[in-house]
Amino acid sequence: MYKDSIDRIKVEVINCKLCNLCVNRRNAVPGEGNSNASIMFIGEAPGRNEDERGKPFVGSAGKILDETLEKVGIVRSRIFVTNIVKCRPPGNRVPTELERHVCKNYLEREISIISPKIICILGRTAFESLLGGGSILGSRGKFIEKDNRLYFLTIHPAAIIYNNKLRSALEKDMLTLFMECKRLDIPI
Ligand code: URA
Ligand code: SF4
Repeated sequence: MYKDSIDRIKVEVINCKLCNLCVNRRNAVPGEGNSNASIMFIGEAPGRNEDERGKPFVGSAGKILDETLEKVGIVRSRIFVTNIVKCRPPGNRVPTELERHVCKNYLEREISIISPKIICILGRTAFESLLGGGSILGSRGKFIEKDNRLYFLTIHPAAIIYNNKLRSALEKDMLTLFMECKRLDIPI
């Protein structure tokens, strides 16, 4: 038996050809960040910038995520960031159920290795894939416990690019997350 690790998953993801998304990608984008993180953020799928650089949340959505985290006092270098699928869907379309299903093994292993105290779900696709949820706007700002894991729900940072009014909602949620970490004595 081998010991699974984030580095091992990274190598597998980079070489993965398990679904069609491998055809058009420039780079697969494995999860990245602090392997001792208490909080793990899960988005949808890599976008253009992520595909070019092989890193999650480094484009405009990543910038909004970083700014919001910084504003409430959460340091990006202390968290772990990943996506439901690790390769960019053409034209940034939403990944299909099949693609999500095939890629899920990597995400589950990332979660099990990092073993975060809180999993922060960014947007509808992650909400649907992990908790079977629907509209994120109706559930954002809430914590949900499932199978011994604690989830926190918020909107996807990219939503703010299209509707700047959502910025304050994201900030409010991140503050809720920060305060809950303080209350539970979770180091962030
Ligand atoms: N949007 C996502 O869902 N993930 C990224 O990594 C970048 C943009
Ligand atoms: Fe493999 Fe996931 Fe990329 Fe599909 S999206 S090729 S399953 S790493």
